[in-house]
Amino acid sequence: MAQLWGGRFTKETDKLVYNFNASITFDRKLYRQDIRGSLAHVKMLAKQGILTEEEGKKIEEGLKGILEDVESGKLPVTEEYEDIHSFVEANLISRIGDVGKKLHTGRSRNDQVALDMKLYVRDEIQELDALLKKLLVTIERLMEEHLHTYMPGFTHLQKAQPLTLAHHLGAYFEMFRRDRGRLHDIYERMNYCPLGAGALAGTTYPLDRAYTASLLDFYGPTRNSMDSVSDRDYVIELLAALSTIMMHLSRFCEEIIIWNTNEYRFVEIDDAYSTGSSIMPQKKNPDIAELVRGKTGRVYGALMSLLTTMKGLPLAYNKDMQEDKEPAFDAIDTVKGCLALFEGMLATIKFREDVMEASAKNGFTNATDAADYLVGKGVPFRDAHSIIGRLVLLCIEKNCSLDQLPLEEYRKLCPAFEEDIYEAISMKTCVEKRMTLGAPGAEAMKPVLEEYRTYLAE
Ligand code: ARG
Repeated sequence: MAQLWGGRFTKETDKLVYNFNASITFDRKLYRQDIRGSLAHVKMLAKQGILTEEEGKKIEEGLKGILEDVESGKLPVTEEYEDIHSFVEANLISRIGDVGKKLHTGRSRNDQVALDMKLYVRDEIQELDALLKKLLVTIERLMEEHLHTYMPGFTHLQKAQPLTLAHHLGAYFEMFRRDRGRLHDIYERMNYCPLGAGALAGTTYPLDRAYTASLLDFYGPTRNSMDSVSDRDYVIELLAALSTIMMHLSRFCEEIIIWNTNEYRFVEIDDAYSTGSSIMPQKKNPDIAELVRGKTGRVYGALMSLLTTMKGLPLAYNKDMQEDKEPAFDAIDTVKGCLALFEGMLATIKFREDVMEASAKNGFTNATDAADYLVGKGVPFRDAHSIIGRLVLLCIEKNCSLDQLPLEEYRKLCPAFEEDIYEAISMKTCVEKRMTLGAPGAEAMKPVLEEYRTYLAE
């Protein structure tokens, strides 16, 4: 049991208490951030004359040695320490002797852990952003390939109007682009350095907080020491953004699962991203899509967990806040895994263009366009709607589609129909005539794709 605070205690900590209190099993993940923060702190202490140049140098070398040895596996972060901060400090002292005991001058584990967590979240935001960008690049590529792949668009999961696969994928492009924006906003808001806040009330040493902040690439130091050590808003914000990413991924997965069914057959998931059944030899299951959909729950859980942990906490630091780490780490790792796997699955999926187009044709997705045709011939829309409704009923009886219905049948219900009805309700016309910005017509989509490419090139 290695701990930093034995002085005022006359009894050993109970073993169960020690284990319950310790966080090393999970905060060992922060070793890089912890050492990086300490290096900046020590550099500032030396600059301010709080430590001598020589002391600063020695500590710096010691810290760098620890980092190297942990990275190489020579120095494992074992569970005999209470937390990652104790691990680093104890190892520093055993490495460089008494001067190592000066590292913690003008610092508390409260501002230290607040810093570590911020550095960690900041690093992870960059990684998440890169994964989102990779997914967007894949979506954009597929959009280019499928500008003219016709498919039914759905409302209530009922065929509604025809559109293109490019357009459908474009909806997800928008979602994941907003997700990147959310990560960016969080970064901008959180990027202020809590170091120097001490336990809660700052310190009496002449620290140069702006200097430490700039060494660590923050925009500047935080402005209130109590808030600095008790703020976990940015973790909550990140978990909310991660939950939204998972919500988007799970909607996309759900569609892929539906599209991959025998009934739809719009797509075929690549063998590399499917699994079989131990009993049913014919099975090829969309497990990856299902797992991504399923993992959404644990990410939402992490958000609820931390919101609940933080609820009602009095200022400033409370040990409750140690409970931020496991859910946050788990959620971040989960989302990174899901983004990478989902991108791989999407990039290799086979879209069955013929099936999609046939499906758009046989579901009366062109009924609105047929009504609009009549409007073009001077029939009021409400009447046109009713005429087409009756024609749809007729088609259902005859088991055919609108474009298979003979012209006489059309004309029986309304003499305004002419031969050009077939051209007007063809899949191509229905989709390509939708040319307002944001609509599926290829002419409308080209400038949007152009904008997406520019955005991805930034
Ligand atoms: N392991 C603690 C955490 O994660 C570090 C801060 C501990 N501070 C304290 N005064 N006990 O929050």
